[in-house]
Amino acid sequence: MSPLAALATADIAGCRDDFPALHQTINGQALVFLDSAASSQQPFAVIDAVSRYQREDHANVHRGVHTLSHRATELYEGARDKLRDFINAPSRREVILTSGTTESINLVAQSYCRPSLQPGDQVLITWLEHHSNIVPWQLVCEQTGAELLVAPINDRGEIELDELQALMTERVKLLAVGHVSNALGTVNPVVDIIARAKALGITVLVDGAQGVPHMNVDVQALGCDFYAFSGHKMFGPTGTGVLWGREELLENMPPYKGGGDMILEVSFEKTVFNELPYKFEAGTPNIAGTIGLGAAVDYLQSVGMQNIEEHEKALHRYMVDQLESVEGLRLVGTARKQAGVQSFLLNDIHPHDLGTILDHQGVAVRTGHHCAMPVMQRFGLPGTTRASLALYNNTNDIDRLIAALDKAREVFA
Ligand code: ALA
Repeated sequence: MSPLAALATADIAGCRDDFPALHQTINGQALVFLDSAASSQQPFAVIDAVSRYQREDHANVHRGVHTLSHRATELYEGARDKLRDFINAPSRREVILTSGTTESINLVAQSYCRPSLQPGDQVLITWLEHHSNIVPWQLVCEQTGAELLVAPINDRGEIELDELQALMTERVKLLAVGHVSNALGTVNPVVDIIARAKALGITVLVDGAQGVPHMNVDVQALGCDFYAFSGHKMFGPTGTGVLWGREELLENMPPYKGGGDMILEVSFEKTVFNELPYKFEAGTPNIAGTIGLGAAVDYLQSVGMQNIEEHEKALHRYMVDQLESVEGLRLVGTARKQAGVQSFLLNDIHPHDLGTILDHQGVAVRTGHHCAMPVMQRFGLPGTTRASLALYNNTNDIDRLIAALDKAREVFA
């Protein structure tokens, strides 16, 4: 399918009507939402699933013999099964429900790395990472005496594979890498990276927060050991997410948090932990949110991940072409493979000022360091303006962005 034909894909064009938040005016203008990398909007299907649960089925899960508790448990565990299928995990025991990518990565840092890392060991990350794929490793390195290594990126915002490979020695116990950079949109060659690491016996975690909403993810095909992602970037509610991990690794990891539901038996002398995945799910979980996340999976599958990927690829190409035509605009992040995320600068206008002028025209973008300060430091910038796409965006959104940028240029002339 040609890029322009993909943009006209009927299924995708109709999706916009599924998202009520998109149909409002902001500062007197129809909203153009280009900030889905920060948090995506939710379709009726998700909002309705959460609302139905709260109106009719709410009770605690795994704990009651009464009907509502059974219903809540069935819906909550049903969402786990949908998520298992969505990422093609071999077993539901490997699908740990968390509050999001951040908690998923911290869980691995504290339960997988902390008990095993020794002084002299290394954890390897890349310069492209989001703070949530940097700070948990810094913490565990400080706790254990291990060292954090950072693989460099080039001026396009791509990981330098030879340099990454050179850092992979027997001292590296874990490699943590983003699937897609939230700040620059770079799609990392994770299959290749994982294969290189696994050949050397290095455990690999992939931060999939920006991957899962935009492309088909098959954890078995990827070959990684852990894959982390968030619900609120894939059209689900905030405070939801997943850590997928290989069963043999999860089995040997101690619990991350203690509390109700993660135990089989408790006495003051000894506690016997619950089986997977519950060993890692202490306390009453985000039941409503997770049910909403299950509905988000259904929604994504009904649209089709392949359709979404093609649509966003073509729309990103259109966005880049249009941005390049804006006088004084400089793209930041020009990787050969990019998802629907584009950072840029306009003349010497501060990104926060630019974002405010765009908002006055109804155009929502993110400005600043995007929780990826090292990426900004790499480019010698305090921040950028970032437009990020989702399945509900179209060429009209891009045209409105360009018109708003032209207006900003006039205001700051
Ligand atoms: N990680 C989110 C972003 O990229 C918040 O904006």
